[in-house]
Amino acid sequence: MSVGIDDISFYTSNFCLDLQELAANNGASAAKYTVGIGQDRMSIPGADEDVVTMAANACLPLLEGMAERGEQIDTITSVLFATETGIDQSKAAGVYLHKLLGLSSHCRVVELKHACYSATAALQMAAAMVVRKPAEKVLVIAADIARYERQTPGEATQGCGAAAMLVTTQPRIIELDPETGVHTEDVMDFWRPNYRSTAIVDGKYSTKVYLRSVRAAWQDFQRQSSLLFKDFDYFCYHLPFSRMAQKAHTHLANGHKHHMTEDDLSEQIDASLIYNRITGNSYTAALYIGFISLLDHVADMVGKRVGFFSYGSGSVGEFFTGKLVAGYEAMLHTQRHQTMLADRQPISYAEYVEMYDFQVPTDGGTHDFPQQTNGRFRLAGISQHKRQYEAR
Ligand code: CAA
Repeated sequence: MSVGIDDISFYTSNFCLDLQELAANNGASAAKYTVGIGQDRMSIPGADEDVVTMAANACLPLLEGMAERGEQIDTITSVLFATETGIDQSKAAGVYLHKLLGLSSHCRVVELKHACYSATAALQMAAAMVVRKPAEKVLVIAADIARYERQTPGEATQGCGAAAMLVTTQPRIIELDPETGVHTEDVMDFWRPNYRSTAIVDGKYSTKVYLRSVRAAWQDFQRQSSLLFKDFDYFCYHLPFSRMAQKAHTHLANGHKHHMTEDDLSEQIDASLIYNRITGNSYTAALYIGFISLLDHVADMVGKRVGFFSYGSGSVGEFFTGKLVAGYEAMLHTQRHQTMLADRQPISYAEYVEMYDFQVPTDGGTHDFPQQTNGRFRLAGISQHKRQYEAR
């Protein structure tokens, strides 16, 4: 039975900081950011945005598409919400999303966590769920706000975004293969204890563990699948920053290159990096925004095979693959993504610092948040420790 992604879209904040502006204010050279780590801008969330609002905004094109095609919303029977920057230690972020989107009360909701990896676990679980009930759809969400302490090497690799996917049988975008390669290893490369709002990261070590994980996941994949490196047309990697994917691809290709030039290798990943270079890291969503970037920038991909490497610090890596299906172009939201990105508002360094310093009040009082986001859904405030969401 064919299973995979039937529809996919993403959302990011409408504010962004140019990394040249960051460099001008923190003493780094701009080239270190634009060339060395390969990032140009990063999305910065407004005070009235969090993983729930970004996720709900990412889901809109999917639900509108279903409505246009006359598909019933109650065919979505599960929401798997992957995030590492959730808003509650107990209540799943997906329940707020469930209400904002008007999903059926018979739809189950759960939140999943493993650093940047959990959306891939969600995708694999969703695939298994729809095999069991082929008429149903599972909504997989990846949403995160990447946040490091200011004036640290990680600062330039912040960002935010959410990706939403409908997983179904007979998918209209990409069919996923059941064979996947996994590598799990207990390491301390990046983590965020419950009492912290920013991650602790051993940056250089994390890049080494990422590369080790790519190789090990690929080797496991080779044990499961008869596909060889040469059978792949494109690759999408988890994208903490775009240079990481370039390093990972060179690392993985090493030994498999045969007749491939450096340009051939670049062509296999370049289109997947375009959105990340201007949105920054979005943890769980980064790999999937990379896939959307590939879909939005390369034409005629029917029958093309894509390799995906998902990485979550701590660490779990998974290599999986899929093939684009005939007619996939009709399902894309390219124009919407590009308009959203083009309409973002650049902010100054001082505005960035102010937005960075904003904290949701923890005193249990009633607080309204300034209207900053242009998105349909926003976090209007907090009252008695309860987040108040609204649709504009
Ligand atoms: N012109 C061109 N290139 C320059 C330059 C200049 N003027 N100055 C420096 N560079 C290059 C360096 O040579 C280096 O390139 P190589 O990696 O190819 O050697 C690159 O820019 C970065 O420079 P540094 O290594 O000196 O940078 P740094 O140590 O200050 O920070 C980092 C880099 C460790 C990745 C840091 O950004 C960080 O900690 N980021 C957060 C952690 C992270 O993203 N880890 C990735 C793997 S873990 C993961 O993927 C999970 C996740 O999402 C967090």
